[in-house]
Amino acid sequence: MMINVDNGSVRKACLLGWPVAHSRSPLIHNTWLKGFGINGVYDKRAVAPENFAQFLKHDLRSLGYVGANVTVPHKEAAFHLADKKDDMAHAVQAANTLWFEGDVLCASNTDVYGFISYLQVCAPLWAKTQRPVVVLGAGGAARAIVYGLLQEHVCELRLLNRTRTKAEELEGFFEGPIRVFDWQERDDALKDCGLLVNTTSLGMTGKPELLINLDGLAEHSVVFDIVYAPLETGLLKQAKVKGHIGVDGLGMLLHQAVPGFHKWFDVKPEVTEELYDCVVKDLMRVEI
Ligand code: ATR
Repeated sequence: MMINVDNGSVRKACLLGWPVAHSRSPLIHNTWLKGFGINGVYDKRAVAPENFAQFLKHDLRSLGYVGANVTVPHKEAAFHLADKKDDMAHAVQAANTLWFEGDVLCASNTDVYGFISYLQVCAPLWAKTQRPVVVLGAGGAARAIVYGLLQEHVCELRLLNRTRTKAEELEGFFEGPIRVFDWQERDDALKDCGLLVNTTSLGMTGKPELLINLDGLAEHSVVFDIVYAPLETGLLKQAKVKGHIGVDGLGMLLHQAVPGFHKWFDVKPEVTEELYDCVVKDLMRVEI
């Protein structure tokens, strides 16, 4: 089906970062654009931090973009510079998706949506057990995930970070049943939990492994590792051996792209197995 946008003119969105070279966002959005037959393009713009405010306030619009994704190191600046922010952006205090409503620059943080959507896809019954959940890490990704889990009314959220004060800061920011544990207590903190989420960079290619003993988790729990390179981390391998449901970070990356595409191109895309495989192939091509 050919979708007519803007009387045939090319509709453009982009990724803003510094650097932007390794992002998979163009592959994801351009695959969707092609699939829908939309006359649009998604490209990358490397914008230095000192030029970011000027780019958002003037260039984004004048270059003809209908919106953008924002990545490191601009997410916090994008949040502050946007004219209108939704609840998710407020919760995370950072924005990864921007769009225009008239001349108003609007911002959201779609990591929350990406995390919860993919969790529902891979483990639709995860919330039914009503067990405590554990989140490792207290960076930007953890913030989005903690907010998402609190929105889902988890009964208890155990939060652990190497730097404990950062976990305490998160606990103070959100209202909800959060309990902070010491990083060294991570094996014990898993006791009777039904979901473990790793938001740290441990287990990523080139980083140390996450050392944790999963014995405390309840049977058939869910282990979600937001790392996607490698796709199957040591944590997910261990989870599989113990009979838990492993959820990888690539699906979250794909799902977080959905709301932006929907805003910019007026059609809600689907995260298909085909798209997933296409991005996996691309990741493998670069790793070789
Ligand atoms: P993001 O925004 O993607 O969450 P980040 O803000 O850099 O990235 O957060 C990285 C997370 O990985 C942090 O929770 C960090 O812990 P600290 O707050 O103590 O830095 C965690 N992390 C990174 N390296 C780690 C390590 N070697 N051991 C334990 N945690 C680590």
